[in-house]
Amino acid sequence: LPPDLFGGVRKNSRGLDLASEQVLAGLAATLQQGQPVAAVPVLADGPRNGEVLPITNPADRRDLVGTVVEASPDLVDAACLQAKPWQEPPAVRAETLRRAADLMETRLEPLLGPIVREAGKTFGNAVGEVREAVDFLRYYAGCVKGFSNDTHKPLGVVACISPWNFPLSIFTGQIAGALAAGNAVIAKPAEETPLIASLAVALLHEAGVPRAALQLLTGDGKVGGRLVANPAIAGVVFTGSTEVARSINRALSRRLNADGRPPVLIAETGGQNAMVADSSALPEQLVLDAVTSAFDSAGQRCSALRVLCLQDDIADRVVPMLKGAMGELGLGNPDRLSVDVGPVISAGAQAGLNAHIERMRAAGHDVHQMALPEPTQQGTFVPPTLIEIDAVSDLPGEVFGPVLHVLRYRREDMEAVVRAVNATGFGLTFGVHSRIDETIERATAASAAGNQYVNRNMIGAVVGVQPFGGHGLSGTGPKAGGPLYVHRLLAQRPLVTSP
Ligand code: SER
Repeated sequence: LPPDLFGGVRKNSRGLDLASEQVLAGLAATLQQGQPVAAVPVLADGPRNGEVLPITNPADRRDLVGTVVEASPDLVDAACLQAKPWQEPPAVRAETLRRAADLMETRLEPLLGPIVREAGKTFGNAVGEVREAVDFLRYYAGCVKGFSNDTHKPLGVVACISPWNFPLSIFTGQIAGALAAGNAVIAKPAEETPLIASLAVALLHEAGVPRAALQLLTGDGKVGGRLVANPAIAGVVFTGSTEVARSINRALSRRLNADGRPPVLIAETGGQNAMVADSSALPEQLVLDAVTSAFDSAGQRCSALRVLCLQDDIADRVVPMLKGAMGELGLGNPDRLSVDVGPVISAGAQAGLNAHIERMRAAGHDVHQMALPEPTQQGTFVPPTLIEIDAVSDLPGEVFGPVLHVLRYRREDMEAVVRAVNATGFGLTFGVHSRIDETIERATAASAAGNQYVNRNMIGAVVGVQPFGGHGLSGTGPKAGGPLYVHRLLAQRPLVTSP
């Protein structure tokens, strides 16, 4: 085992063996047992009731996965008043987070059904969610080794605002980082996925996280907006769109924390992620990695590949191979293990993606789209789509879904193409496929992306191994699953000290 960055030894979670018949039979059963989950705001003084809204499965809207009660503005303010930083010694916090990781690993199978049904994820992706959440808990627990409450003070109350595309792993990761530092967390999960979030909060409380140190506010962006505006919030950890990150940044810029510093913002947002392949790339490997990077999770990863840049003398060979590989993807309701690409999250997302595809078609671009294999009117599906473009500037911005754009470039223009990607202002992930060291060096040096992948796919960064995050329009850092994350959530020394 590699030694942990902090001197201990930590093993990442192993997940499940999806090749075992016995495991597969057990998985099918997890979907059948699903009792509706009820998510409600959970304040330090207890859960709160209110108007109940349904949460349905994006693969089939007739499937009621559970219900949610949205937090009222008064509840947001009440949570801020009730929040109390976690003052137990760092070692006790770490032990509690590790206990939560053990519990979560033990309950992997019962957690899968809600993830598959609430977020429309495949089983493989759902297993990945639980593993990553477990890894975040253990990794950030390890980060406080050597801390003492005298020298490592928390920021105070931290708002964790998380996305629907990683409803368990990013939700848990944000909270684990803030709790490890001793903060009080008020968690506001995406309005699309409150159920899995409420299961995670219940599990963290069961493991021993004090209720005043972890509260849950379910609801939409208005709840998040109200939370961020509350002067009790000393820091915000946000993953989601660039637009929302900027609005949070504007809100935070209007005030200072008690230590005289601006509230902390850790934001992880979108990308215009490209992969460059020169004529020495191994075609089969390139096609597998490009298809995985573009279409896994129905392209709904911030890390997903959006623009595949092919050197022109291999493009005519690789594009038909890409189309062939797309044709092999299983598309449909992920209640079956054979499905590789599930639905997109909502009717709004589906409409936006379809509008983009139609605009590109109308502008004369070559569009290749898979057929839907079965009637799927009950869900919001967008079949994997490949669109040839002439320049990065043909794209309106990040297209968040299963749409892969292909751009052909001349050998001498490779760095210019990478600079055009940088010029979008995003800098999250980047890939290169080549068997020439010099190409790899030139491409990675030209790219401004935070995470770069060579001769492999460009998704699924591993906690503690590939710290994840970008810059520019892609976020603020520090990287999630990296050694600086917990430190950013500590208070700094006061700006002015008395002599
Ligand atoms: N961390 C995820 C990935 O690497 C994206 O959020 O795919």
